[in-house]
Amino acid sequence: MPHLNVPQKQKVHRRMPKWSELRSQLQFAPFERDATTRRLGRAHTISDLRDVARKRVPRSVFEFVDGGAEDELTMSRSRAAFDRVEFRPSALSGALAVDTSTTLFGRSLDQPIILAPTGFCRLSHHEGERAAARAAARAGIPFALTTMGTVSIEDVATVGGPEADQWFQLYVMRDRGLTTDLIARAKAAGFSTLAITVDTPVTGQRRKDLRNGFSVPPQLTVRTLLDIARRPSWWINLLTTDPLVFATIPAGEPEAHAKFIDSVFDPGVSFEDLKLVREAWDGPLVLKGIQSVEDARKAIDYGADGVIVSSHGGRQLDRSPVSLELLPQVADAVGDQIEVLLDSGVRTGADVAAAVALGAKACLVGRPYMYGLMAGGEAGVDKAIEIYASELRRTMHLLGLASIDDLDTSRVRLRPSN
Ligand SMILES: Cc1cc2nc3c(=O)[nH]c(=O)nc-3n(C[C@H](O)[C@H](O)[C@H](O)COP(=O)(O)O)c2cc1C
Repeated sequence: MPHLNVPQKQKVHRRMPKWSELRSQLQFAPFERDATTRRLGRAHTISDLRDVARKRVPRSVFEFVDGGAEDELTMSRSRAAFDRVEFRPSALSGALAVDTSTTLFGRSLDQPIILAPTGFCRLSHHEGERAAARAAARAGIPFALTTMGTVSIEDVATVGGPEADQWFQLYVMRDRGLTTDLIARAKAAGFSTLAITVDTPVTGQRRKDLRNGFSVPPQLTVRTLLDIARRPSWWINLLTTDPLVFATIPAGEPEAHAKFIDSVFDPGVSFEDLKLVREAWDGPLVLKGIQSVEDARKAIDYGADGVIVSSHGGRQLDRSPVSLELLPQVADAVGDQIEVLLDSGVRTGADVAAAVALGAKACLVGRPYMYGLMAGGEAGVDKAIEIYASELRRTMHLLGLASIDDLDTSRVRLRPSN
């Protein structure tokens, strides 16, 4: 064995650095005193906001928002379709700045996003629709108030301010007088666009709501009482603010959500009934919940100005078509005659870019801003909108595109599903 002259390891004497020496190398994050800001600061995606939301509200409320119909197949397929998106970027495109704004029905949107109509907003947070309407107005995007709103048409119009672009979503009621009365109120309050939901002749079966005994207002059971102990601030807010009722339509007795809705909406509504609506509303009219090319064509025949390709977020007919997959066919068939919009499963700014590239003028988002509401009230809705805005801007920049109009079918394809 040759003798290796291995140098002896020198013993290193370490000394504790002084604080003054450390200070230049370490940065301490400032402590955020406000708990909501701290919570929202941890959310970088809509999925993070969802995680925060889950911890803030009773389980039955979270699952009412988060859940879908029956086996939730359409809900999960809608999400999976966005995972199949593949972009085609341009290298060295020279696009210096990115402009995400678009124009819809003659009004400018800072980004192609609309806060979708969602019932019982005040269950998610006591400020409910007020918070969402204010956040949307600040962000320069429309807010859509549902017929099932927990803040009235007139109150929403007031909080948004004169510049706000507000839509009213209408369910055609058994009582046609009430239906036209709601249209007149929306018109008088300055709402810009009327969306008629056409996918809800009856309410889809939401099994989580059934299992949770979901009702509005919540009914007291042993489980609710235990829940109060675990989510005291949500309950205190619920019990110390205006009673939670439908603010736009006459409230029924506390009963199962689906049962009440089915007693008010007209299950027999047909395309012919749209004539009544068209006569009463002279602004932009949109059909929400279109799920076939044929119905999109019919929408034109009956005087609609736009269609929303939507499965109601997978909350109505389970196994219904997936919006993103149907979109190119609808856009091809009617896109040059009316506006085509899309919702169901849009969770990132990249999803918005993909939908616009495949023919949507804008996307509606429902659950994502409700997660924001649950996670942090109005600031949470701001956060949800900011997440979409920054993701969309970054996606467009990475694609090498300067303007929303540059997003077209040459930029995207849906990879074959596995
Ligand atoms: C809690 C909740 C309540 C909803 N209420 C209504 C409603 O009253 N009217 C309506 O047309 N759509 C309603 N929707 C459907 C949304 O408008 C929208 O179509 C759907 O949320 C889009 O899917 P997304 O949640 O995946 O974004 C509701 C959705 C949720 C999550």
